Amino acid sequence: MERTFLMIKPDGIERGLIGEIVKRFEQKGLQLIAAKLLQVSPEQAATHYAEHRGKDFYEPLIQFITSGPVFAMVWQGDRAIALSRSLIGKTDALEAAPGTIRADYSVHTRLNLIHGSDSPESAEREIGNFFRPDEIVAYTKAV
Ligand code: CMP
Repeated sequence: MERTFLMIKPDGIERGLIGEIVKRFEQKGLQLIAAKLLQVSPEQAATHYAEHRGKDFYEPLIQFITSGPVFAMVWQGDRAIALSRSLIGKTDALEAAPGTIRADYSVHTRLNLIHGSDSPESAEREIGNFFRPDEIVAYTKAV
């Protein structure tokens, strides 16, 4: 069983895509164990995107992710990280496979609707940046 951190970005909130995006993960069979709408602080943004510091897109990315509310979530399931990333699609909307979230709803590379963890280590670090342990519900799906 694996946990992953998913975050619908400000463009997804503004475009009213929370329900559409959440539906895809539910339909796939992953299990939602935490969720909240929040405003990302500059400190949280810097921690979350630390690996991109120094890149040319870093400052616009921090500006974007703190520009409005995000919908932060923790999902659980067998191979949840890879499965989530397969539903999300590649970073650049032009390279994302048809049927993925980014291909279906995005035309941009930075404004790409949703973030998903890329490894178990990233997932735990990212979850810890946005959720206290007591905000995560521990339960196992019956089906
Ligand atoms: P995300 O999956 O949240 O991880 C890093 C983010 O940086 C990525 O989604 C995009 O929003 C952004 N990003 C990555 N590469 C580029 C790029 N070449 N130009 C602009 N933004 C980028």
